[in-house]
Amino acid sequence: MFSRSALCAFLSLIPALASASETQPLYKDSSAPLERRVEDLLGRLTLEEKVSLLHGDSLFTVAGVPRLGLPVRWLSDGPHGVREEISKNSFSPAGRTDDFATAMPAAIALAATWNPEVAQKEGETIGSEARARGKDIMLGPGVNILRSPLCGRNFEYLGEDPFLAAQLAVSYIRGEQSMDVASCVKHFAANNQETQRSSIDVEMDERALREIYLPAFRAAVQDAGVWTVMGAYNKFRGEHCCHNDYLLNKVLKEEWGFKGLVVSDWNGVHDTAQAARNGLDLEMGTSRRAYDEYFLAKPYLEGLQSGVYSREGLDDKVRRNLRVMIGTKMLDERKAGAINTAAHQAVARRVAEEGIVLLKNVGDVLPLDATRIKTLAVIGENATRPQAHGGQSSELKALYEVTPLQGLLRRVGRSINVIHALGYEAPNSDKLSTRPQKPDEPLTAEELTARAIAAARAADAVIFVGGLNHELGNDCESRDRKDMKLPYGQDELISKVLEANPRTVVVMVAGTPVEFGPWHEKAPAVVQAWYGGSEGGNALARVLFGDVNPSGKLPCTFPAKLEDSPAHAMNAFPGNEGVVRYEEGLLVGYRWFDTKKIVPMYPFGHGLSYTTFKYSGLKFGPSPAGGHMAVVDVEVTNTGTREGAEVVQLYVRDLESSLPRPVQELKAFRKVMLKPGETQTLSLPLGVEAFAFYDPARKAWVAEAGKFVIAVGSSSRDIRAEGEFQLSETIVRK
Ligand code: BGC
Repeated sequence: MFSRSALCAFLSLIPALASASETQPLYKDSSAPLERRVEDLLGRLTLEEKVSLLHGDSLFTVAGVPRLGLPVRWLSDGPHGVREEISKNSFSPAGRTDDFATAMPAAIALAATWNPEVAQKEGETIGSEARARGKDIMLGPGVNILRSPLCGRNFEYLGEDPFLAAQLAVSYIRGEQSMDVASCVKHFAANNQETQRSSIDVEMDERALREIYLPAFRAAVQDAGVWTVMGAYNKFRGEHCCHNDYLLNKVLKEEWGFKGLVVSDWNGVHDTAQAARNGLDLEMGTSRRAYDEYFLAKPYLEGLQSGVYSREGLDDKVRRNLRVMIGTKMLDERKAGAINTAAHQAVARRVAEEGIVLLKNVGDVLPLDATRIKTLAVIGENATRPQAHGGQSSELKALYEVTPLQGLLRRVGRSINVIHALGYEAPNSDKLSTRPQKPDEPLTAEELTARAIAAARAADAVIFVGGLNHELGNDCESRDRKDMKLPYGQDELISKVLEANPRTVVVMVAGTPVEFGPWHEKAPAVVQAWYGGSEGGNALARVLFGDVNPSGKLPCTFPAKLEDSPAHAMNAFPGNEGVVRYEEGLLVGYRWFDTKKIVPMYPFGHGLSYTTFKYSGLKFGPSPAGGHMAVVDVEVTNTGTREGAEVVQLYVRDLESSLPRPVQELKAFRKVMLKPGETQTLSLPLGVEAFAFYDPARKAWVAEAGKFVIAVGSSSRDIRAEGEFQLSETIVRK
């Protein structure tokens, strides 16, 4: 029995406990299950507060609910790092000095690494910088498939293959979200051109949608648990993607079980009823005079009050917003992050180094031997042009950006006399800050060429750094390129430079395939450097001088000419009268080139090394464990004299299929670093999805019993070993 005094003490505890639970509501209890916290918080919000959580209250913020301790949410671009702060109500820079960030290489360069581990590191890095800058939702990665080389945003995306894009996006998102930040996979879906981007209506068959355009999104949702998805600007089958019943309600939420929130693209919402009913949860960037005029603000509130829109629909949207807030620890102790650290810069350099693709290297011109060069000519505007602060929403205010020329100068020190000539000049630059230093008296095109030729003649070796840039009409959001040619007379210039000095290495700084002019035959070495971010110049110099052995592989086919590429061959880009029909269906990228037997300039997956690799011992059999259909073993040996990394690529070919299929499809890959002479055996597991196609009649994925060829190689067109695999039973999966 209790003594009297003990009982008194016990009784006096009861009010204390009660008041503790009052001061600590369930939604604030970090140890409580997420869904219970969400429900608790939902129950405390007024109608007006709920609606306030569904739309922006500035261009990149959403109001909090101070009464309940809910903070303001900060969204920020984007895929390459944390964007410069812009004004509250306009896209003009806020003019701050605390918003410099580490610039990662453009996403297409990340895709060219073919390395999910690197993608994860990039995600962690951007996530960390996002936290240091107080951001809650980061608007990336972009995973739209490269359908045409002309799309102005190809540089922001992960190439032409759904499997590669999915693998990299998943790792990136896992890395970023591990920092208590929500990623935002974008733009859902079928946003593959900038021409008429807000109004174009995309039509494609269901198989193309499921097999090409959706897998990276699905993987982001189901494998990475991405917290947010951004609707695209375009229409899909007649309805805008930011409020598209089929894409958002049926596919994303019902089929895939997405529990996070759908945010609109900026100014991508057009209708309150559709926004209310078709799956949108957060409206941002709408062009209205006042934020409460947004479609999901007052008009929605009024519709809720009058009973036009259901309270269940509202609560579903609010729950999703709260889930993301609580899930990213906005109400709890949260990672603080860091910005512009040496570790982050090292990640930027690693991505850049691993993404650089050695396209051609005749006579081992590369790597350059610094001891044998007295004078090096560096020619081309992209040698000195900073790029990170361009391209629109993915642009950054980099703390620094090492240009190719700076990187080369640092690498060679005083041992080599380096001369630079601009060679060509991009006219009409609309962004002074991205322009290289120009003389007061601009040189004429002839003078620029003459100086470039003189520099080439005077040098023992030449590095030409050209390509595209982020001006409108190049690699830039909101406009597609008009053709696939190199701009600013570069084709002619490169030919002349090569004539003046055949030891010319051509470096392409560009985020999409460009057509290589007649110079390409004569150029002994061609390097695809993409946009390298803060450390781009250092990475390039290290690759060119052999400190780093190149290991990047093309994440997209480089067609010899535009007409060879599928959307253009089918005359299906950028559409007619407001509609674009994806006539090429499944045959996107190498799926087209391989099926139609068209020789590209450089195939998907291509990329040379300074060493060589041998493939042997291909074996496959049923998987012993782990639910896989097969495990493929292959031995890879470094047969050269330098350490290097190879990307082993596995393609599956269906020999007996009831529906037409592309000749081959990438279904696994692995990047492996090998010392000279070293051999490693790689095991690549293949699940049902590696054999399956989407059957629209069954609304399911079908891996049909029958024969498949499993081909392993160094690119889609450099298959080193293959064998037949028999699938004994048909498997159907949702
Ligand atoms: C782009 C998005 C971006 C948003 C916010 C839009 O124009 O399409 O990718 O996240 O702006 O800047």
